[in-house]
Amino acid sequence: MNISLGCDHGGFLLKKEVEQFLVNEGHEIYDVGCYSEESVDYPEIADKVCKELIEGRSAYGILICGTGIGMSIAANRYRQIRAALCHEPFTARMSREHNDSNVLCLGARVLGAGIVLDIVKIWLETEFAGGRHLRRITLMG
Ligand code: RB5
Repeated sequence: MNISLGCDHGGFLLKKEVEQFLVNEGHEIYDVGCYSEESVDYPEIADKVCKELIEGRSAYGILICGTGIGMSIAANRYRQIRAALCHEPFTARMSREHNDSNVLCLGARVLGAGIVLDIVKIWLETEFAGGRHLRRITLMG
C-alpha cells in the first residue's frame, strides 16, 4: 500500500520508528518530512501529506506532531480528508470502520512507540464498513 508520512520536529523520532515498521510490513512510503528535530510548522507538513492523498499518490497518510492535535486540525481543513487523532487501538479501528479515516494523526509526546505501532497496524488492517456509515460521510460533503 502507498502511504504518505509526515511529522514536525516533535514527531521526528517517532516517525522514524513508524516508517521502519511500515517498510518492514512491505508498504511503499512517501516521506514528506521533516527530516530532523529542527523546528518546523506542522500545518505545512499536514498540507503536503493531504495533497499526496488528494492527488492520488497515496491512499493513506500518517501525521505525527507533539500531541497530534495540530496535525488533525490542519488535515481536516481539506474536504477530502478524514483525519483521526487516535491514542489507542479501539478508536483507530473505529475510525476506519465507521468514519473511513484516511489520515491517522499521532502524538509523539503522548504515546510510546509500542502502542503507536499497534495503533498503526490495526488502523491499516481495518476495512471501512460502508452502509449507513457511507451515508453519514456523504452528509459531510
Ligand atoms: C510543537 O511544539 C507542537 O506544538 C506541535 O508538535 C504539536 O503538538 C501541535 O499540535
